[in-house]
Amino acid sequence: MITPVLLCGGSGTRLWPLSRKSYPKQFSSLLGDESLFQDSARRLSGEGYAKPLVVTTNDFRFIVTEQLAGAGIEADAVLIEPAGRDTAPAILAAALHLAQSDPDGLMLVAPSDHVIPDADAFSACVHAAIPAAQEGQLVTFGISPDRPETGYGYLELDAAPTSDLSALPLKAFVEKPDAETAAQMLAEGRYLWNAGIFLFSVPTILEAFKAHAPDLITAVDASINAATTDLGFIRLDPEAWASADAISIDFAVMEKADNLSVVPFAGRWSDLGDWAAVWRETQSEGVSLSGPATSIDCENTLLRSEVESQQIVGIGLEDIVAVAMPDAVLISHKGRTQEVKQAVIALKEKQ
Ligand code: GDD
Ligand code: MG
Repeated sequence: MITPVLLCGGSGTRLWPLSRKSYPKQFSSLLGDESLFQDSARRLSGEGYAKPLVVTTNDFRFIVTEQLAGAGIEADAVLIEPAGRDTAPAILAAALHLAQSDPDGLMLVAPSDHVIPDADAFSACVHAAIPAAQEGQLVTFGISPDRPETGYGYLELDAAPTSDLSALPLKAFVEKPDAETAAQMLAEGRYLWNAGIFLFSVPTILEAFKAHAPDLITAVDASINAATTDLGFIRLDPEAWASADAISIDFAVMEKADNLSVVPFAGRWSDLGDWAAVWRETQSEGVSLSGPATSIDCENTLLRSEVESQQIVGIGLEDIVAVAMPDAVLISHKGRTQEVKQAVIALKEKQ
């Protein structure tokens, strides 16, 4: 059995003003009726999967339980981080928790904000990854890049991948390269994007933390040992947690490890990281409209109103993203939607 570990502690600031600190994007229905979190939980449920372990922060604990119930899924446990410390401490906490109940088990770590429309194709990929994970590999899932994206990790292979569904050895893992390096890697043709989803066994990831981030083990282990339980939530101890470095699994472990493999995934995948990504996933003939929205001669434009009584109209726009909420409106060039993150920081400073 594989235990899905669902990470949903991020605040998704690049999708402001829809995504808020108190209600981030993974819990919103950005594309369909269900939220991205519900989609992710459902994708990793059913045959071959144990109940999921959810790792989140205090603010989102009731949204998590409500949305799981809405999707008809029961969690194995909900671990509450006293504060977001990025993905490495969250994944380590999940591994240490599982070590108590399923010490040799496999864990599939998955973000809760991705779009993978073909769940069956993705499941086949996970199955293909199992033997390598059982042999002590940290298995990643690779996506063929189509642009020099700097917001992703890159997986280096010996040669361009074939369409075989099997785990291939990785030469290196490069997290979030600069634009020049990303362009070089794209041109070389033997790099894949890291989908941000990992399969490994509990002992393999614990060994990897021991080798590459031993200080994290001390902090997170202490935090698990002193955890308290209320209403079924497992609350990690805040004092011990505070001494854990805030670092992602990609920088803490993946860039340093040499037991890495990748299973290429040929299906559609998207990290709905910013509004340009939402536009890519939802556009038809270049225009994406949502809510009471009207486009007159717009190109490569997203117009979205989250307020039923508020029309949004674009005329002759090109490469624009406009999102209207009851209390805020975003208008951005489509090529600069990554900068929404800085805008949110600037707004906070103004308050
Ligand atoms: N529980 C918890 N606690 N979850 C967190 C935390 C935290 O402190 N920080 C982030 N997460 C969750 C986010 O909600 C998201 O679901 C997932 O962990 C990944 O974090 P992101 O912040 O979205 O990472 P990223 O997109 O910048 O980069 C990662 O994903 C890319 C693909 O989408 C990396 O793995 C890249 O290498 C990869 O290409
Ligand atoms: Mg992401």
